[in-house]
Amino acid sequence: MPAEVLSIHTPALFRIAVARAASLLRAGEAVALPTETVYGLAANAWDPAAVARIYAAKGRPSHNPLIVHVADPGLAAACAAEWPAHAATLARVFWPGPLTLVVPRSPRVPDIVTAGGATVGIRWPQHPFMRAVIDACGFPLAAPSANLANQLSPTCAAHVLAQLGGVLPLVVDGGDCNVGIESTVVDVTGPVPRVLRPGMISAAAIAAACATSAEMGAAVERAASAPPRSPGQLARHYSPRARLVVASWADEAGLARVVADARDDPARVWIIAHSAIPMSGRFPNVMLIPGDPEAYARALYGELHRCDQAGAELIVVEAVPEDPEWAGIADRLNRAAAKG
Ligand code: TXA
Ligand code: MG
Repeated sequence: MPAEVLSIHTPALFRIAVARAASLLRAGEAVALPTETVYGLAANAWDPAAVARIYAAKGRPSHNPLIVHVADPGLAAACAAEWPAHAATLARVFWPGPLTLVVPRSPRVPDIVTAGGATVGIRWPQHPFMRAVIDACGFPLAAPSANLANQLSPTCAAHVLAQLGGVLPLVVDGGDCNVGIESTVVDVTGPVPRVLRPGMISAAAIAAACATSAEMGAAVERAASAPPRSPGQLARHYSPRARLVVASWADEAGLARVVADARDDPARVWIIAHSAIPMSGRFPNVMLIPGDPEAYARALYGELHRCDQAGAELIVVEAVPEDPEWAGIADRLNRAAAKG
């Protein structure tokens, strides 16, 4: 049975979709919902059998923990054994929003959510639909990105339907995600917050929010560049089907050398460029992507999905600046380019 698809672009449709999603979630189903980062595959976080449906639908390894989504301080507190001082600060500054806080886990959170670990990742999303569903349910929602394990995250309903449309009862269509890459994940269980997964809330912004002194700010930046401990950070991840390389080129001759080195049929090579844009027509498949980081993040996964759909063998992505606002994007590109 193909998934039911519900839009939310009028208040009446929004209310109908909230009621339908909440009723399926109460019945222990897993459903795909829009968030401001990427689409999530949600289930009742208190119910191990419901959460098991998420792992089954995605083919996700059981050692990779899920993020729990909340919509008020009471639910957040119910998921945590304690609420560290940095968690309070960061929640106050960045919630609701694209930030996940890793805190000591309450015994009420089932093992299957945390992969048996002593911590749990909690996020209060900004997206009004996700918040309305959590409010209607009254329980937190465990939700990873709504894609098959190790594939690209979905940033529109069509991406979800292409990968999971055959196995889910409901996909709620909220249009394109506003942020476009996954949340920043920050471990606040230690003395210094550690960025486990960079995102559009930068390490510098986290440091600034937590800084009671310049040393604290510097410590967060150092922790952010230390090797991460987030399970999702270890393997090749966030990947299109095509191979991906990140490269810089001064001119079209330079780009031609990058393409020639890769030895693919040039007709099967897609180029994604934001500043050194090849205009001559010498390259058959060029995608332009905006040059500011927010708009770039919003567009990136859509472009990669389009390259896959077009049958790309190789995607050559122009390297992005090394500035802190680009760190989340650079992380996803490097991960997509990693072999293995
Ligand atoms: O923006 C997002 O975070 C999206 C939307 C749906 O909220 N969710 C998302 O979930 O990206 P997922 O499961 O695809 O990625 C969650 C990441 C994984 O890398 C996972 O290993 C890490 O967060 N994570 C979850 N719980 C953790 C924990 N207790 N400690 C360390 N890392 C954790
Ligand atoms: Mg994911």
